[in-house]
Amino acid sequence: MSRRPFVAGNWKMHKTAPEAAAFVSAFAADVPEGVDVAVCPPFTALAAAVGAARGTPVAVYAQNMHQAESGAFTGEVSAGMLLDAGVDGVLIGHSERRQLFGETDEGVSAKAAAAHAQGLRVILAVGETAEEREAALTEIVLERQVRAGLDGLTPDQVAATTIAYEPVWAIGTGLTATPDTAQAAHAFIRGLIEGLHGVGERVRIQYGGSVKPGNAAELFAQPDIDGGLIGGASLDPADLTAIAAAAR
Ligand code: PGA
Repeated sequence: MSRRPFVAGNWKMHKTAPEAAAFVSAFAADVPEGVDVAVCPPFTALAAAVGAARGTPVAVYAQNMHQAESGAFTGEVSAGMLLDAGVDGVLIGHSERRQLFGETDEGVSAKAAAAHAQGLRVILAVGETAEEREAALTEIVLERQVRAGLDGLTPDQVAATTIAYEPVWAIGTGLTATPDTAQAAHAFIRGLIEGLHGVGERVRIQYGGSVKPGNAAELFAQPDIDGGLIGGASLDPADLTAIAAAAR
């Protein structure tokens, strides 16, 4: 089955609203054919990015959300609020959320279910740490995270989920997984989803972790790598365009 490649930029805690709008306008002018593209601005820049992206192929995703519809959750934002801001989707379970902000598998699961229920698209991020890889726990960790993140979803919701495989040791480190290492993890995840939900061939699986214009093509050429989730190199529109072009 041919899956349409998907390249998303995770801006993390970067860019003001005017910077986000300027980026989206520049990026939207040159989106390669045949590739889905998105940016994930911080909450304060979502509305500006949505405004600039209107009528263009650029989708706008939030970097996090809360699973409840509303309530006494100081500092949190719900799926309904993201929809209200015109956002298309949400990134859930990024390793920085898991490692720095106490995100659990249970929380990730609840967030993914709530996002789908509200009609947001979902990128679900998974990945092992260096210690876990060295201890030969990579597949155990990926299985736990994938099982939890997709738990309770319908097959169509699973198929509509994008998985981002991001080995924690490759994020922001300049250490990219080799194409073979990444491909092995992607094939494992796809097989797992096929076994659990029967839609493994439909799910897009992005690679993330120090993807740059210079290494994107060899990663995206792997049969089970369907694009990328890009951090540092997504802050420059020309770099993100070059990476998206490599996914065609
Ligand atoms: P990086 O980040 O491309 O800067 O390694 C990837 C990510 O955290 O999504």
